[in-house]
Amino acid sequence: MTFKIVVLPGDGIGPEVTKQALKLLPVIAEKENVEFVLEEGLIGATAIDQTGNPLPDDTIEKCLGSDAVLLGAVGHPKYDLDPTAKVRPEQGLLKIRKSLGLFANIRPVKTFPELDPISPLKDHLLKGVDFIVYRELTGGIYFGEKGRSEDGTEAWDHCNYSAGEIERIARMAFETAGQRRKKLTLVDKANVLETSRLWRETVQNLAPEYPDIDLDFMFVDNAAMQIILQPSFFDVILTENMFGDIITDEASVIVGSIGMLPSASVGDGKALFEPIHGSAPQIAGKDIANPFATILSLAMMMDHFGLVNSAENIRRIVTDALGAGIVTGDIKEQEPKGTTEVGDWVYEQLKSF
Ligand code: IPM
Ligand code: MN
Repeated sequence: MTFKIVVLPGDGIGPEVTKQALKLLPVIAEKENVEFVLEEGLIGATAIDQTGNPLPDDTIEKCLGSDAVLLGAVGHPKYDLDPTAKVRPEQGLLKIRKSLGLFANIRPVKTFPELDPISPLKDHLLKGVDFIVYRELTGGIYFGEKGRSEDGTEAWDHCNYSAGEIERIARMAFETAGQRRKKLTLVDKANVLETSRLWRETVQNLAPEYPDIDLDFMFVDNAAMQIILQPSFFDVILTENMFGDIITDEASVIVGSIGMLPSASVGDGKALFEPIHGSAPQIAGKDIANPFATILSLAMMMDHFGLVNSAENIRRIVTDALGAGIVTGDIKEQEPKGTTEVGDWVYEQLKSF
């Protein structure tokens, strides 16, 4: 069996963290008796620098012909500081999601007991925290019509959703809840937004098809509090694009470091795996970035390929690394390991598994 993987290292720490994950592929290939064929593509600020385009057509074509994409990170401060920039690295990320039809972004949030001391939350809140956010990824306000009035003093971003867009991700979330603790929470703002009312209506209409799922609804402002006050309450959270963007960053804080959170984006066939953290330009190129979010994203890719043993082994090794103190400075200030050192350790462990 051959799997074609396109690697998009992107910007900032993207190249160094993807490198650590890619080291594991030859080991997995040997153990699972499969073959991985790798190709690289440009995205983000790096792509703008080289081609003027944050997502060249060549990258889209490569990804469309792949079995999975591994993405590092996208973003550069020179664009953040310039609100008038017409071409931005993030456009590349939004466009690749749209071009590959990746409408569901899956972000698992699970605490590691080894990291409890660095979580800003008190210990008793961290027990049993294990939930997954299903964030809609190709609709809503991030993709709606945007514009400015002629005199530039007014601006708008439209938020649109169709019942079809809601239903397809809602079904995934219901099904995942069925394989877990059977609890699904729709996070919305149905007391104010018409799109949220459509989300509620659509999800409510599906509920009879999933009678074993305990479905509830939570306004996003309340959810933002509950994720901190009682994170173990949640099992599967379903939400729209912008709310999902915000609450998953919030949720990552519970774990102790955003450098630990992987994600998978799926849709009608294509799949992309990326850490949820950004390009972290301030630490780029210093060999100090935490590679675990990308390594765990690779584990999600292996699950997607059906190579579940390798996925499980990678997750176990990451937990072992935390126990053994083989971690970067975001986790341990005293004598932290470098990005490469951590990657090498995981590689060696996987070989001997
Ligand atoms: C993320 C990022 C992106 C998003 C940005 C960079 C466009 O924050 O993957 O969460 O908002 O989707
Ligand atoms: Mn985000």
